[in-house]
Amino acid sequence: MAKLTKLDDIVSLCKRRGFIFQSSEIYGGLASCYDYGPLGVELKNNVKKAWWKNVVQMRDDVVGLDCSILMHPLVWKASGHADHFADLVAECKKCNTRTRVDHLKDKATDSAQEHTEHVAIAPGATQDLSKKVCPSCGATGNFTQPMPFKLMFETQMGANIEDSMTLYLRPETAQGIFANFRNVLDTTRVKIPFGIAQIGKSFRNEVTTKAFIFRTREFEQAELEFFCEPGTDDKWFEHWKEQRFNWYLNLGLKKENLRFREHEKDELAHYAKGCVDVEYKFPFGSGDWQELEGIANRTDYDLRQHQRGMRTLNAWYETKGDLSKIKLKEEAEDYLKGPLSYFDDEKKARYIPYVIEPSAGMDRSTLAFLVDAYDEEEVRGETRNILRFSSAIAPTKAGIFPLVNKDGMPETARNIFNDLKGRFNCAYDEKGAIGRRYRRQDEAGTPFCITVDGQTAQDQTVTVRERDSMNQIRVAIDQLKAYLRDKLDM
Ligand code: GAP
Repeated sequence: MAKLTKLDDIVSLCKRRGFIFQSSEIYGGLASCYDYGPLGVELKNNVKKAWWKNVVQMRDDVVGLDCSILMHPLVWKASGHADHFADLVAECKKCNTRTRVDHLKDKATDSAQEHTEHVAIAPGATQDLSKKVCPSCGATGNFTQPMPFKLMFETQMGANIEDSMTLYLRPETAQGIFANFRNVLDTTRVKIPFGIAQIGKSFRNEVTTKAFIFRTREFEQAELEFFCEPGTDDKWFEHWKEQRFNWYLNLGLKKENLRFREHEKDELAHYAKGCVDVEYKFPFGSGDWQELEGIANRTDYDLRQHQRGMRTLNAWYETKGDLSKIKLKEEAEDYLKGPLSYFDDEKKARYIPYVIEPSAGMDRSTLAFLVDAYDEEEVRGETRNILRFSSAIAPTKAGIFPLVNKDGMPETARNIFNDLKGRFNCAYDEKGAIGRRYRRQDEAGTPFCITVDGQTAQDQTVTVRERDSMNQIRVAIDQLKAYLRDKLDM
């Protein structure tokens, strides 16, 4: 029977096999930043490719975009991040450790109310921390009043002190899409309903980081902003819920480990009409179920806010770019005619589109795919570690081996490798006993292993071993490409 997966097993496999390393490890490591090694980069690229294929390539109503990470500071004033993107933290008076208030556990119940990525800051809200325990030193009820901790990383642009300005590393990719809404409308033939998709890095100075690549300070998001006519938003919300849930299932996540969680009314951002998380049952955390992706109905909030932001530009120049001194201009009375509004040619109506936003974490999905695929089984008295990845995301599609390093077998195996590698990501391996080479590929999640043996020279066939069943069949060399294409569905 398969053993219950522990995060430690996954972390250790990721390190041992070159999936994921701690950032700057040779300098003792940089907390909550990670590097993807040779197998990890293939895996994560495949996850991103699968998202792009499903959300952009397979549809005729979504186009792609790749925005810069650094954006005009007013973007973050208009989006609300500059003033409100913060976590509520309390400092332990005994050991000075700061912890997110929603991550503090009760002494008696050992429960925390952690749900969302970030808590909405309600100034003046009093919090009873008298029963909460410091996760660092164990002191109970010994906290300062909760205070907001800003999550955006700041940086400076420009060489001269006089004209250098403070910029922010984007905390989400979404705002780059809103800022380009008009550009996309003016340069393509899209008509509402349509979406703009983007995959890219985001940065948050998280207070609590945890569980490997689950919550990090630099991470990758895949976001879709789907623009639709007000009144059709509920329908599109349901459409995207279904699409996104099925995406995880089709890439191999087990159904029993996936669920939706509707946000409670008091969890919703003030502009959101509705929000649901796709949750995965991770083998760690205060509760098992953790957010993989959020799907939100953002209404017309962002486009309206950016119209206000554009009206605030002069004030921004006057304060020399000091966002704390700027108040966002009121909405223009004729905001419906503003530059981010949409004119529907057929209905002869103008409106600010509503937005449905599925927002997924690519690192977090990669972790879920790793955890879900991990398995251990006993084979002839030995433990076999396997990553049962679906073929679309497996980092390597086929391992190619000569059974022994003589009688022309390495040359034939190399020829096969050279023939297949342009089509599928393959690995050539001629070192060690064949059983060990199979095990190495099982542990990397490689669906097929191809072995050139003594019979190959006689009948031009090789053995093809399938990862999960370990069944072997003989396939003619000239049929290999078609065989793999069919089996891998690519
Ligand atoms: N634009 C909406 C947005 O950014 P979010 O719930 O803050 O919403 C969306 O983030 C997704 O991004 C999350 O569901 C999660 O998968 C991923 N994510 C957010 N913060 C993360 C972090 N610190 N580390 C890894 N992934 C993160």
